[in-house]
Amino acid sequence: MKTEISIQGLTASLSSARQSRKTIGFVPTMGNLHQGHLNLVREARKLCDVVVVSIFVNPIQFGPNEDFDSYPRTLDQDSQLLADVGCDIIFAPSVEQMYGKYPRLTNISVGQITDDLCGAQRLGHFDGVAVVVTKLFNIVQPHFAFFGQKDYQQLAVIKQFVQDLNMPIEIMGVPIARAEDGLALSSRNGYLSAEHRQTAPVIYQSLKTAASNLKQGALLSDVLLQIKNELTQHGFEVDYVEARSPMLQTVEQFDQDIVLFVAAKLGKTRLIDNLQVNFSSSFKI
Ligand code: PAF
Repeated sequence: MKTEISIQGLTASLSSARQSRKTIGFVPTMGNLHQGHLNLVREARKLCDVVVVSIFVNPIQFGPNEDFDSYPRTLDQDSQLLADVGCDIIFAPSVEQMYGKYPRLTNISVGQITDDLCGAQRLGHFDGVAVVVTKLFNIVQPHFAFFGQKDYQQLAVIKQFVQDLNMPIEIMGVPIARAEDGLALSSRNGYLSAEHRQTAPVIYQSLKTAASNLKQGALLSDVLLQIKNELTQHGFEVDYVEARSPMLQTVEQFDQDIVLFVAAKLGKTRLIDNLQVNFSSSFKI
């Protein structure tokens, strides 16, 4: 496995793969890897000849009061984990490699589906994601790119701009990896106190109860309120509890496949989770 820190180094490493028409699979990350990320790499390994993982904490997707400076940077540990799951190349550029010395004048803004859910609280966040993912796609030029369904809105936004801009990349959504108690794995779980870590799985439990109540005919509005109340009773500060269609259009009732979304804070840690509830027998983002 190679680690490249420059765009030129990466291009050189990938040139023979391109010449021999090998398929390139790409997993963009911000590092501090957990099983959720490693599952993305495993999926890429199954499908592609060459697997590239980027590790880059992208400054432009963090708001002024967010955790860019304190975001965990654990390259040595990440490299070991990636070697174990068969990654071929790690691309770990510096901020200067990615954004250069000059001000960036181009933005990529995906309308409508970035206006609510996490987009309403994290202004500019999805523009920052869209810009960095587009840059990484242009640098790596993968055939397939793998993203976790934990960041469901991010996955939908990426699918949207890839389709809108005719990018020749297949976007693969990979199911959420969970701890044994159901908590969705996230690098930010490491911020939770021991007590909050015990409480955090209530999010997934309340989503599962909601899904089962919906299937038994409960009203969507009642179910959303029930999740909110349960989280508040357990000490969460709820940011939103919402239901959307698979491509994030608003829904009034459970008469189609939907996704239930939660964002809530425990202390200072903001957790997000979601659950797909299918009305029909197959559901696919
Ligand atoms: O999901 C993440 O880790 C980041 O948002 C991504 C896609 C790597 C872009 O910085």
